[in-house]
Amino acid sequence: MAGAQVHMCQTIFPAHANHLGELSPGQLLKWIDTTACLAAEKHAGIPCVTASVDDIQFEETARIGQIVSINAKVNRAFTTSMEVGVKATLQDPLTNVQKLISVAFSTYVARPVGNDKVVLKPVELLTTQDFLEHSSAAERRKIRLEHDHVFKNLMEESRMGDDHVCDKEENMVPTDVTHVQSIELVLPPHANHQGNTFGGQIMAWMETVAAISASRLCSLHPNLKSVDMFKFRGPSTVGDRLVFNAIVNNTFQKSIEVGVRVEAYNCEEWGKGQARHINSAFLIFNAVNEDGELLTVPKIRSTTRDGLRRYWGAIACKKIRLARTHVLPKTEEYCTPDFWDRSNQAYIIKSNLTALVTLAAKPGWKRNNSLDHIKMFTLEETDVLSIKVEMQVQIPSELAFFLLSDFSRHVHWAKYYSTCRVIQSLTEEDKIYHITSPSVNGKKPNDFLILVSQRIPCKTGDPYIIAARSIALTAAPPSNQNYYRSSGFLIYTDGNSSLVYYFIQGAHDIIPYVAANVFGQSKCIEDTASVCIQFLESESCKMNCI
Ligand code: COA
Ligand code: ADP
Repeated sequence: MAGAQVHMCQTIFPAHANHLGELSPGQLLKWIDTTACLAAEKHAGIPCVTASVDDIQFEETARIGQIVSINAKVNRAFTTSMEVGVKATLQDPLTNVQKLISVAFSTYVARPVGNDKVVLKPVELLTTQDFLEHSSAAERRKIRLEHDHVFKNLMEESRMGDDHVCDKEENMVPTDVTHVQSIELVLPPHANHQGNTFGGQIMAWMETVAAISASRLCSLHPNLKSVDMFKFRGPSTVGDRLVFNAIVNNTFQKSIEVGVRVEAYNCEEWGKGQARHINSAFLIFNAVNEDGELLTVPKIRSTTRDGLRRYWGAIACKKIRLARTHVLPKTEEYCTPDFWDRSNQAYIIKSNLTALVTLAAKPGWKRNNSLDHIKMFTLEETDVLSIKVEMQVQIPSELAFFLLSDFSRHVHWAKYYSTCRVIQSLTEEDKIYHITSPSVNGKKPNDFLILVSQRIPCKTGDPYIIAARSIALTAAPPSNQNYYRSSGFLIYTDGNSSLVYYFIQGAHDIIPYVAANVFGQSKCIEDTASVCIQFLESESCKMNCI
């Protein structure tokens, strides 16, 4: 078995199921957490604790008698933490049909005994898939760690949290009807091998309480559809009392958001009411009738200040969820520019980088010219054409990265840039540029916005990455949505020189224009690449002279 991978297979027995014979989501979360923790510990070689489980969706319901297979694999080790990817599938032993139940990403932190801090060894990357997951893991980590900040910004933007009152309509259900409180005493069977309350067990208890809260709203058995991140803020141990509070925060036409807060008390704290806040999560449920049709759920009415804040918080979380589901699946497809707003920025940045790395790793590139120092390749897919140009440049790779990642310098070599300036610097690594291009073949001059994301290699042998893709701002809709999809550079170190790969990708009907625009005629691809090489080498000379 390659790297830190662990597999678990379980038959669903009645003890794992609810009254309808369906696998309880809590049980599935326990299996997922156990498998992922064992993969993390296999990599780390020491005990690990669950720090968080990313947003997770449940695609299929498994039933008694079916088999659940869970595969967990460490995608990337950071310093003391690791991302583990988990895939749960179900198999019907009678029909042999397999279905995906869920894909999850959890983070585990290595905790050696005592106060020592570890530095985890890197994950060995054997396949293209390993490489892609490794690269995406860094972007997911950013999204994870910035989630609270994005949420706070969205709440501030809405300015509704404090003073806006919910509309009053008939048949609205007051939120207090859905309040559920429950307590659990942590016993040895609930603890993991280190004596801490097992993360999967806490998630299972949270799901139970949240489901009761949702059922009070719609008087039906709700189905768990997704969870907006479980974050384990602090440990709890055998002997702790865990108090769970759940309430419906908001409802959307066919879904219900229930929030759960978990507080822990040890025996002394219990008497004094000193709680430790150990977890909070937001669970999304829906309800179906006997024919399996989704039901419209009643609207809720929040009357307290906290209730109103959570009501608007649920709207902000939904925005983030929508951004995630609408931006991420496009990572490998051609698409028109996404509108850029606070809720989806992190996802667009991630998809920008993933799209480039995925494009580079695709099979089927065909060589199109015969020069030695500039090689050109094309890749044709159904409605997308991609061009790759390989350039040998006699300057160090870090300098090539420095010169190419600043797109305002591209006006010196790229014929298709008339002007280029930064209009937003999100971070040192992610910037938005406004570009104007000259008229070509009688077409009007164009202007467009691109997001440029640059990343340095995480280890020797990895490339420098510069990914660029069109985006749209609501305040400035694009004049030509299809201008181009994405482009970018992967720069490898080759001794004292660099191997620069330049990529452009767009729809078939766009590329001839882009290609013409970029390179004039087909031969001009080589000319433009030559100008680019000259530019890089002469800039390097100038810098050396200084
Ligand atoms: N999601 C993902 N990673 C997180 C995280 C989160 N919510 N919070 C912290 N981390 C990562 C940090 O990025 C850092 O990673 P790095 O070393 O690779 O850069 C690592 O955790 C340690 O961060 P640090 O700030 O030093 O630790 P901390 O004091 O915040 O502790 C936990 C983090 C997870 C160890 C701590 O919150 C904890 O003990 N939680 C409870 C764990 C638990 O009981 N789980 C259930 C039973 S196993
Ligand atoms: P926030 O209140 O900002 O959402 P918390 O971590 O305090 O964050 O709580 C998470 C969720 O748990 C809340 O959104 C709410 O749904 C639920 N919750 C918290 N406290 C209570 C409570 N006292 N009673 C019922 N539900 C609660």
